[in-house]
Amino acid sequence: MDLFEAIFERRSIRRFIDKPVEEEKIAKILDAGRWAPTVGNLQEWRFIIVRNKEKKLKLAQAAFGQNWMVNAFLIIVVITNDQRITRAYGDRGKDLYIKQDAAASIQNILLAAHSLGLGACWVGSFDESILRRVLMIPDNISIHAMIPVGYPAEKPNPPHRINLNNITYFDEYGKEWVKEGTFFPRL
Ligand SMILES: Cc1cc2nc3c(=O)[nH]c(=O)nc-3n(C[C@H](O)[C@H](O)[C@H](O)COP(=O)(O)O)c2cc1C
Repeated sequence: MDLFEAIFERRSIRRFIDKPVEEEKIAKILDAGRWAPTVGNLQEWRFIIVRNKEKKLKLAQAAFGQNWMVNAFLIIVVITNDQRITRAYGDRGKDLYIKQDAAASIQNILLAAHSLGLGACWVGSFDESILRRVLMIPDNISIHAMIPVGYPAEKPNPPHRINLNNITYFDEYGKEWVKEGTFFPRL
C-alpha cells in the first residue's frame, strides 16, 4: 500500500470480526514499531502482546469499560523503561523524548496494521494501576498505550480534520498567510 493511502485511509477501528491475525502480520506491525525514530537510538520501548481472553477483558475494564477491545484478536501494550533516556537527557528525556519515542512507534504500528488489512486503535484512556497488576508491570516502567488489533468489522467515515490553512503559520507564531487568498486553496 502506498504511504499516503495508508496515512489518509487509516481509521481508528473499534469493531472486529472473529478471525485470527497471522503471526507474520503481528511480527510485521511490531517490526514497523521498532523502526520508528528513537532518541539517541536507545530503543527503550517494549511491547506486551495480550491474547488471553480474561486478560483482554481486564484490560478493557481498566480502560473504563471499553469492552469492544475484547473482540480484538490481540492487544499490544506499549511500555518503556525510562532509566537510560533520563540518564542521558535529564528531564527533557523523561518528560518528552520517552513519550515521543512511544508515540512514533505507536503510529508506525497503526499505519502498518492498516496497510496489512488490519484494524487498530490507539487507546490511551485507562487506569494504569490495573494494567500494572494484570500484566505484572513494575513501577519503574511507563505504560503508554494499548493497541487492540484485529480484522476490521467496520469502515468508519473520515472524521473531521481542521483545514490546513487554520493550523499553519508563516515565519512566526500566529502569523497567517497575508497575500491574496489562502496558501492551501484545495485543502
Ligand atoms: C493519545 C490518544 C489516546 C486515545 N485514546 C483512545 C481511547 O482511549 N479510546 C478510543 O476509542 N480511542 C482513543 N483514541 C483514538 C482517537 O479517538 C482517534 O484517533 C480520533 O478520534 C481520530 O480518529 P481516527 O483515528 O480514525 O483518525 C486515542 C488517540 C490518541 C492519539
